[in-house]
Amino acid sequence: MSSSEADSTGIRRRFVVVGHDATTAGDFGLNDLAGATGRLDILLRCVNSAFLLSHDLRRDTELYLVLLGPPCPPRTLRLVGRELRHLNPDERSTAALLRQALRSPTEGQSSPGIHVKSLGLSTLLETFPNELVYLHENGTDIRQAALSLPTTFLLSDHHDLTPEEEAAVLGFRPQRLRLGPRPLHADHAILLVHNELDRRA
Ligand SMILES: C[S@@+](CC[C@H](N)C(=O)[O-])C[C@H]1O[C@@H](n2cnc3c(N)ncnc32)[C@H](O)[C@@H]1O
Repeated sequence: MSSSEADSTGIRRRFVVVGHDATTAGDFGLNDLAGATGRLDILLRCVNSAFLLSHDLRRDTELYLVLLGPPCPPRTLRLVGRELRHLNPDERSTAALLRQALRSPTEGQSSPGIHVKSLGLSTLLETFPNELVYLHENGTDIRQAALSLPTTFLLSDHHDLTPEEEAAVLGFRPQRLRLGPRPLHADHAILLVHNELDRRA
């Protein structure tokens, strides 16, 4: 693995997760995150996997949550490791932070390290200058792959990418990599990527 410097933002590991049904409004309660938010709970677990270490945060990591559910898709939340404050392991408190971001009618930062934008998947991917990895159960084994940093890793939620989304992603000529022989939850896939990169560093 190349040990190239972080890009000008200090980001070395970037994850993009597509939430096909995830709510784009900040009007949800915190008591039924799996049932009432278009499975925002999946994305909340991705936040934990992307950033949380035992007693530390991964500050070289950035996570984009592409929200495609009603009422006003697309909206994209950007979480920046080196800027984050108030991130705790419990999903309810992170849900409250994301809800605060979604309550903002405009683009911008809603709390330290959490930004909201009105971007869809293709437009977002166009903004990244670095290598793109499409994490997929039917890719090449990541252990056979050369990875240079910074790299952007793209995952889906509990749905596969739609054919239209996949065609757009393939237009960026990504490496399609698999993490192992079994289908995984998205948050677990993020952890395995971090572990693979940690072991190579
Ligand atoms: C729950 S899976 C997606 C749904 C899955 N295809 C299904 O319906 O059984 C969530 C995401 O994690 C990533 N993922 C899961 N297992 C993986 C694996 N073995 N290798 C690479 N990525 C994986 C993929 O990006 C996938 O879209």
